[in-house]
Amino acid sequence: MPAGVIGTAADLAAVDLLDAGFHTGDPHAVWTYMREHARLHRQEYAPGRMFCSVTRYDDVCRVLGDHDAFTSERGTVITQLGHDDIASGLLMTSCDPPRHTEVRRPLGKRLSAGAVHAMESGIRHAVDRVFADVPHDQPWDLAERALRLPMVVAGRLLGVPESDWDNLIRWAAMAAAPEDPDFAIGARTATLTVAHHQIFSYFTELIRSRRASIGHDDLLGHLLSIQAGAQPLSDIEAMYNSYSLLLGANATTPHTVSGAVLALARNPGAWRSARDDEARVPGLVEEALRWTSAASNFMRYATRPTRLSGGIVETGEPVVAWIGSANRDEAVFPDPHTFDITRHPNRHIAFGYGPHYCVGAPLARLTFRVVCEQFLRRFESVEIIGEPQRLRSSFINGTTHLRVRTTGREQA
Ligand code: HEM
Repeated sequence: MPAGVIGTAADLAAVDLLDAGFHTGDPHAVWTYMREHARLHRQEYAPGRMFCSVTRYDDVCRVLGDHDAFTSERGTVITQLGHDDIASGLLMTSCDPPRHTEVRRPLGKRLSAGAVHAMESGIRHAVDRVFADVPHDQPWDLAERALRLPMVVAGRLLGVPESDWDNLIRWAAMAAAPEDPDFAIGARTATLTVAHHQIFSYFTELIRSRRASIGHDDLLGHLLSIQAGAQPLSDIEAMYNSYSLLLGANATTPHTVSGAVLALARNPGAWRSARDDEARVPGLVEEALRWTSAASNFMRYATRPTRLSGGIVETGEPVVAWIGSANRDEAVFPDPHTFDITRHPNRHIAFGYGPHYCVGAPLARLTFRVVCEQFLRRFESVEIIGEPQRLRSSFINGTTHLRVRTTGREQA
């Protein structure tokens, strides 16, 4: 059973699901209560304006998967609640089929499992570089280092010059977690505005210079060359989708790595089991994805009155689908709060569900498997030093600082 106590509707009424501080603690006790007693929950987010929450696996899959009843076109990120998405219809994430399919199909080809398979040795080399010079027997910050992983993989794939990585990492972190003290540069809205402005200007400029030259065999070059429907993407569509790829990779991958190491350090049996038999790593990868659920939620808006297991959602209501809760639903996962790398089946939805299922999932899975393999090959043991510092965010479940002490393996 997760930590924390919640036993009544009054306890739940006192919880603010939008409060980043709530998520920095342990939300699982509240989600466990909601799955049982408040399957369709409503909370006010502005005077007289409510949003709904679903926490059960089946309801979360229904909301994410049924684009007729639950549209993505008004925004899908909880930090946008109350403001319609300015990128609606232009950004793949904020489109419904058929437009969504027109963009996703050609883009997805370059990110399919078959396409990314060829990148494995390059990824292994890049991952090795990130962890190459960690001090043995001395504390080092794993979460800080993991922040670089998405750029060495997805940034390189996208075709972003290495000299720009540090800026992009910072802006992506500001956009994903504008309330976190490590990334905020003032109030939440100011941080978001600056982050968006910087990333949008950056990609607008990069796309302009790319249009002026030819022969770039990277993901951005691919984005600029695809036919979505009968037309190529406009510059603004290419810019928004580059932003989405950057954020999709940066906001999630590092936190899944930190979450995995934290879980392994707290479950030495799982560490030994995966270290002694690499065939267990794929199971570790899936369980760490479920366990961490780095994308804690995504949002949709109801297009018509629709029945879910806890009641009816009315037309126009925003509905937050809590992925982190669905991935601990006891109706689907026996002993959901146990970290079990032999869990089978493991039908987690850390990458979402339905038409918007993460287009970067094959790349994320491959990267994460390589990270786990290299980590287990390199280190004999890992010890957590002090309290991990959690990312302050209602959207991303993450860690900003995770100090560890590792001892090397002879063969590393
Ligand atoms: C552990 C790593 C990752 C996790 C947990 C994750 C999670 C998710 C989830 C839950 C969604 C569904 C959004 C929705 O339903 O509205 C999604 C979509 C998406 N992700 Fe990821 N993601 C990860 C890695 C990546 C990477 C590496 C990339 C880029 C290469 C990426 C790019 C995207 C994009 C562009 C979408 C939108 C897809 C669409 O609208 O069809 N993600 N991701």
